[in-house]
Amino acid sequence: MNSIFLKACRGEATERTPVWFMRQAGRYMAEYRAIRAQKTMLQVINSPELSAEVTLQPINTFGFDAAIIFSDILPPLQGMGLDLEFVKGKGPVIYNPLRENKQIDLLATPPAEESMQGTLDAIGLVSAELTPRNIPLIGFCGAPFTLAAYAVEGSGSKNYAHVKSLMYSEPAAWDRLMNKLVTVMTDYLLKQAQAGASALQIFDSWAGAALGKLEYAEYVDPYNRALIAAVKRRTDVPIIYFGLGTTLYMDVVRENGADVYGVDWKLPLSEAWESLGDNKAIQGNLDPIALLAPWRELKHRIDIVLDQADGRNGHIFNLGHGILPQTPIENVQRTVDYIRERTSN
Ligand code: CP3
Repeated sequence: MNSIFLKACRGEATERTPVWFMRQAGRYMAEYRAIRAQKTMLQVINSPELSAEVTLQPINTFGFDAAIIFSDILPPLQGMGLDLEFVKGKGPVIYNPLRENKQIDLLATPPAEESMQGTLDAIGLVSAELTPRNIPLIGFCGAPFTLAAYAVEGSGSKNYAHVKSLMYSEPAAWDRLMNKLVTVMTDYLLKQAQAGASALQIFDSWAGAALGKLEYAEYVDPYNRALIAAVKRRTDVPIIYFGLGTTLYMDVVRENGADVYGVDWKLPLSEAWESLGDNKAIQGNLDPIALLAPWRELKHRIDIVLDQADGRNGHIFNLGHGILPQTPIENVQRTVDYIRERTSN
């Protein structure tokens, strides 16, 4: 496919800057809230029809240049033996977090179709709808560290004490856990590509908050590299690595083999390109909270991102993290329209 999003992923020139938003399907949209009023998060994810519908809502409403399949990074952990629920007002909870080495040894590594068939079917439905419209669909998974952190902590965490203790104190068990996650995510990403995803994003939301550069390089980066290399051996769809707070160690991250790097909102894009090298594609990086500001300020912040990108090939406009539920939809529409207008040549 030669959509502007995929061209940008490959670092090619595009007629304008492609734009999509992380978490673009979600609670800021009334159509999404109406579905969630009837169904739990996991029911939506497990229903190919509902998750296809939710995936398409922001595409049809705002005209984003790429869709991302509606699911979450955590459901693949269920197939490994973890007991997951999305609890209202609290977020995801795992009721049997990994606290003993024996639990790690008992984790299963099933093929994706055993636990994620609903999402694979949803990808088929969405790509059948979007391929004729030349709109690409992004598949995704969590990065091994971020998934391990949820699996060991059991929920959100302030200091990541459980997962970091495992990492430091039980290196062999850590290696077994991370390798199992790499095995399961490799298969899951490849099956998403086979089902119709034309790009794959790896979300590493927690590594940057939990780890310094040396710890990231020693305990996390090798598994990201292994995951990306294993996927690349079998498919040529572009891989996007998004790390929140990992810009501190860009010189390590840039070697992990991804094609596109998602940059959070803390680092100006010109500096991100300096540390990544001009030949890499970059996705980012408007502060999601700028979408809550009056248009004058929001426009100013969009302009800063575009000025920083400076018309380089390989810029995909996105937020520096997921959109917030309280975001006014008018601001989303105006942002998408403004980026199209300003970057069209
Ligand atoms: O981007 C998209 O539109 C695709 C869907 C998507 C969701 N989660 C839907 C979701 C994607 C790509 C994710 C990724 C995800 N999930 C990440 C990585 C990105 C990031 O934000 O850092 C993480 C860390 C998770 C784990 C997760 N899922 C948390 C911490 C929460 C609760 C916090 C929150 O925002 O409510 C979720 C729930 C979740 N995942 C919702 C959505 C739309 C809200 C569910 C609801 O109540 O309807």
